[in-house]
Amino acid sequence: MLDFRDAIAAQRESGLLRDIDRPVDIRYLGTLIEDSETALLFNNVTDYNIPVVSGLMNSRERMGLAYGCNFNEIQAKLRDGVARPIHHQLVNTGASREVCYQERDSVDLFSLPIPLFAQLDGGPMITAGVTIASDGSGGINAGVYRYLLREKNLTGIDLVTPNDLRRIVENNTVAGKSTPISINIGTHPAVTLATTFRPPGGVDEIEIAGGVLGEPVQLTPCATVDVPCLADAEIVLEAEILPTGWVNPEGRFGEFTRIMGALHWNPHVRIKAIYTRKNPIFWALHMPWEVSWISAVIQEASLRQSLHEANIDVKAINITPGGTCFFHAVISVSGRVGEGKQAIHAAFAADDFKQIVVVDEDIDVFNPLEVEWAVATRVQADIDVVVTSGMRSKPLDPSVTLVTGRMPTTSKMGIDATMSPDIPRARFERISYAFADEVDTEAYLGTNDVKVDGSEKTDLDGLSVKIRSIVDDTPTYYAELLKRFWSVGANNVNRALGLLHETGDLWQDEEGRICLKSSTTAATPPTSKLTNRLQ
Ligand SMILES: Cc1cc2nc3c(=O)[nH]c(=O)nc-3n(C[C@H](O)[C@H](O)[C@H](O)COP(=O)(O)O)c2cc1C
Repeated sequence: MLDFRDAIAAQRESGLLRDIDRPVDIRYLGTLIEDSETALLFNNVTDYNIPVVSGLMNSRERMGLAYGCNFNEIQAKLRDGVARPIHHQLVNTGASREVCYQERDSVDLFSLPIPLFAQLDGGPMITAGVTIASDGSGGINAGVYRYLLREKNLTGIDLVTPNDLRRIVENNTVAGKSTPISINIGTHPAVTLATTFRPPGGVDEIEIAGGVLGEPVQLTPCATVDVPCLADAEIVLEAEILPTGWVNPEGRFGEFTRIMGALHWNPHVRIKAIYTRKNPIFWALHMPWEVSWISAVIQEASLRQSLHEANIDVKAINITPGGTCFFHAVISVSGRVGEGKQAIHAAFAADDFKQIVVVDEDIDVFNPLEVEWAVATRVQADIDVVVTSGMRSKPLDPSVTLVTGRMPTTSKMGIDATMSPDIPRARFERISYAFADEVDTEAYLGTNDVKVDGSEKTDLDGLSVKIRSIVDDTPTYYAELLKRFWSVGANNVNRALGLLHETGDLWQDEEGRICLKSSTTAATPPTSKLTNRLQ
């Protein structure tokens, strides 16, 4: 797996990242990134000495490249890391310690090119800060949180969601203590991914990152706070979350939901030292898509875990971009009886999903038209739609009802769009066009001449005798007869069949194949003339 600098180089080499060398006003960065087809590395941001890279994870393709694999394979790497975590290695120093700004006056966040992303954001926001804290019981906790620029050595932090860091900070705040942290910007993609994953309590995310990498992540001690930092980060802020409590206005912020989040109330963060590489690059992780594609991987990994434990035979999963790569999933399954509903309930147990659609494996989960078609043709709402209410929610979902004094809850909907086991499969048979495998479409519809063989002259009576004998032996589809008598052409086959129809001998079986009326498999007509009987 590539590290941060390798990922930049790989994207540049593949034409997925552009260097912008002309001077750029930092006020325009958010929009320029949003409008760009590629990741951008701004080498000359006016009034700043540090280049800014952004959009590294803005698409499936770019994210795949950063991880040195196909996008769909990243979640498997993450699950491997969860299954086989590797403890970090503590080293004396690293590239992230090359330059130090530790004295009170030299700690100057205003020297970092921290951009404004959305027009209504509360201010410039550090978005790519992998944050390491002590978990209070001898281990470390890591996650990514945003930091709103306030003073040269003060930021906000968003800790409204009930995650591990919030719990740690709550405990310290009650004890009147601040929470030492290192904020690591410009990190190995494996570390960014693993630290945004929410493993079961007590599991160290840095160990998961090691598991993803197949080698220990190197940590090195901070100078001013008693927590380690990443040895290879571009920039490290040594800091402490002050025990102010959730009393300072923070945000608003253009969220991963593509919606402006509300003003939040949060603690403040004091920055005690800034360490950087000699020539650091600032990663301005762009909202929402750089978060969305990371979320898609994390959500898929946790959904797969849940489905695995419920013994669901999963064929494919799409965490859909329309569902913000977070709330919605389309899952295809092998179609064992009851698997659709089973999968829905297992998926409800994985956090944060609000809408689950389960389809059979013949449906391409990445094709919205196919998925909607499955819902249209395989769903009866009264038996196939499952709704559950009062489940854990993501407070950032603007549709949940906020209740003072407790976390809001959410309802979840599952649609079982698999074929009912009680309906014959023939009722779901897809159209396949006649002789699709044989026709040279390009030649016929292009400008080249196509050689069409004329039909052989034929004795229609003789042909009808042959056809009669075939359908007497085995009920046969009309197309099969055309194929058997290809050289005489469709018109002669039709005429020969016409002769047989005139005798009144021809009929069809329940599958629609041509047979003789006297055949034991011939379909029986409805008893009443006015009954329109369907299969
Ligand atoms: C780019 C990015 C920014 C994030 N910002 C925040 C944030 O500001 N606040 C928050 O609570 N979670 C944020 N998250 C989600 C957390 O990183 C994630 O839930 C993590 O697992 C929390 O870890 P913890 O439970 O160990 O505290 C962000 C995720 C990403 C990918």
